[in-house]
Amino acid sequence: MAPAATDSTVHADGRVGKRIENYAAFWQKDLSKEAGQDTENRLANYTDVINGYYDGATGLYEYGWGASFHFSRFYKGEGFYQSLARHEHYLAFKMNLKPGMRVLDVGCGIGGPAREIAQFADVQIVGLNNNDFQVGRARKLTAKAGLSDQITYVVGDFMKLAEKFGENSFDAVYAIEATVHAPSFEGVYGEIMKVLKPGGVFGVYEWCMTDRWDPSIPAHKEVAHGIELGNGIPEMRPIANAREAIIKVGFQIEHEEDLADRPDPVPWYYPLEGDITKAQTLWDIFTVWRMSSSGKFVTHHGLWFIEKLGIVPKGTWEVGETLKVAADALVASGREKLFTPMYFVVGRKPAEN
Ligand SMILES: C[S@@+](CC[C@H](N)C(=O)[O-])C[C@H]1O[C@@H](n2cnc3c(N)ncnc32)[C@H](O)[C@@H]1O
Repeated sequence: MAPAATDSTVHADGRVGKRIENYAAFWQKDLSKEAGQDTENRLANYTDVINGYYDGATGLYEYGWGASFHFSRFYKGEGFYQSLARHEHYLAFKMNLKPGMRVLDVGCGIGGPAREIAQFADVQIVGLNNNDFQVGRARKLTAKAGLSDQITYVVGDFMKLAEKFGENSFDAVYAIEATVHAPSFEGVYGEIMKVLKPGGVFGVYEWCMTDRWDPSIPAHKEVAHGIELGNGIPEMRPIANAREAIIKVGFQIEHEEDLADRPDPVPWYYPLEGDITKAQTLWDIFTVWRMSSSGKFVTHHGLWFIEKLGIVPKGTWEVGETLKVAADALVASGREKLFTPMYFVVGRKPAEN
């Protein structure tokens, strides 16, 4: 079992007591297991593991990445934020979202994609997230953008969507790089199926290991574990597993593609490489610099210092350290095409006869 949180105080900003510290302790314990993994434990404790991770990582994500916590493809010369927005537009476009539709964003982060998609497709969005701190940030940023009438947020677990919203309640549901946190794909996709109206559409960018990944190869296993550790993921699974789950819960697949497999001249993981010579725009030199060795040095020491001053919660520095493990594992697996953050599926719930 993970060490129990001894301090469960909910702070004004939504972050909970020792949850962040517990994240690092949890993984140290996990790593001390003989095989370096205790997947069963992580699956059983997924809520605490993931919430602890996001309590610590959200501020760092905002600093390093902005308000949309996902990857994207790049065209030559394309700015970092343009590329993130285009990835969101592409999803909305392929799902054929239409003005006025009621749409659920599963695992909505701090609402970056919801704000973009609401404006792009003129839809009503409900953002669902089990992390209170992120929901607080999402509400604040959405009010600031003047979109509170169009986007609302709900704290809840995506493994219990039907309990929260009732069956047949959305025209469309999307999930961007979030459902990998579920203890099983089938569980979360099954819940999405229930809350969709008959004939409704589901679009997902899923984190998966590709067909090139072979868990019997120790280096492959290690790279998957680096992704799990650095991103608060209970278990990385292959594309075949996601596809099977989507079909098994009853979706008719209308579009399926690993977007990371397109022959892009600028790879999706380039911002994590920290090579400023690869920055696509002048402004992005700064974005990329944050992941360079000098950028990491500044973050490492700066974070340690502000944690000591009590400006960020205890444990944030350590979560920051796991983010470095994540970045290395993501770049390594991206170069080898062992991993994709954008296995893209559009599925339809069959219409009632
Ligand atoms: C990588 S972030 C992506 C956020 C958002 N989709 C975006 O692209 O900006 C994953 C999100 O899933 C949320 N999440 C993880 N497990 C969850 C659960 N069981 N129920 C609801 N949300 C969850 C996290 O809190 C986080 O907001």
